[in-house]
Amino acid sequence: MDLSVNLAPQHKLELRLRNPVMTASGTFSNGIEIGKHFDLEQLGAIVSKGTTIQPRRGNGTPRTVETAAGMINAIGFQNIGVSALINTICPVWERWNVPAIVNIMGYTLEEYGTLAARLDGVPGVAALEVNISCPNVEAGGLEFGQDVHHAAAVVREVANATSLPFLVKLTPSVADVRPIAEAVERAGAHALTVSNTIPAMAIDAKRRRPVIANGFGGLSGPAVKPIAMRNVFQASSVVEIPVVASGGIMTGLDCVEFIMAGATAVQVGTASFLDPAAPWNILRELEEWFTAEGVATIEEIRGVARRKD
Ligand SMILES: Cc1cc2nc3c(=O)[nH]c(=O)nc-3n(C[C@H](O)[C@H](O)[C@H](O)COP(=O)(O)O)c2cc1C
Repeated sequence: MDLSVNLAPQHKLELRLRNPVMTASGTFSNGIEIGKHFDLEQLGAIVSKGTTIQPRRGNGTPRTVETAAGMINAIGFQNIGVSALINTICPVWERWNVPAIVNIMGYTLEEYGTLAARLDGVPGVAALEVNISCPNVEAGGLEFGQDVHHAAAVVREVANATSLPFLVKLTPSVADVRPIAEAVERAGAHALTVSNTIPAMAIDAKRRRPVIANGFGGLSGPAVKPIAMRNVFQASSVVEIPVVASGGIMTGLDCVEFIMAGATAVQVGTASFLDPAAPWNILRELEEWFTAEGVATIEEIRGVARRKD
């Protein structure tokens, strides 16, 4: 069995993963703590916490709440900032034999370009993941990823600033993900991550207030899986570049389903809050499924659910 995948086949550096199981941004910190307990080098790739130019303390608490089928979070992009990431985390990643992908997030076009330029050529960084589910402060707060032109502009900005391969992480908060996926591919993305959390809220009846201090947050976990599934199916039907699935992946079978919808790799997020060993368990289950079904490569089943025959 060969589970390896390439997330940037058109890029000179490529982005080869030994298997398709990745961690999802924000659910794994930067891997340092978990790396003390589990063997990260067994995974396909790790993805950092969303990184901004300046360090951020994030929102007040409570900023997470469990729901019937997942969780809502409003962390507010708490992170150490790009300089500290480069100085303290990247040297650790450099020693690890697993691709580390930095998830970046800007509030203006220029910030995306600055982040991409700062991380260009930094040892230990294999690729970038560009989160465009962020309010564009220059365009009245509409998310970059909700508008074809703004999304493409971010991608061009990043493409001009880095020689690294990069994934672009799409928002599910659009009527149709296909025009955005096409625009992002045309503008130069090497792969897509589909998709991010979905705006949501919870009310605490006892306090008669929203549970989350910030009011709203992003829903993730099993509740969002069917939404992400449709988005992966649709996005991968209109682009040539690899699509990485994100949303409610809890088991090896979830990965298989996303690959059948068209995904080349998958990210494990909320599942790690239930069990930090989730990415490794999911990988084992995926291998067991491949063995049981006599399937030898990801390509053999990728996108089969899209076939008309
Ligand atoms: C606590 C938490 C923090 C997150 N932080 C980020 C982030 O910083 N950047 C980002 O692109 N996505 C972030 N996400 C979204 C996840 O990476 C993932 O796309 C989403 O949760 C859906 O996958 P899941 O259902 O497996 O969790 C976060 C999710 C959670 C639950």
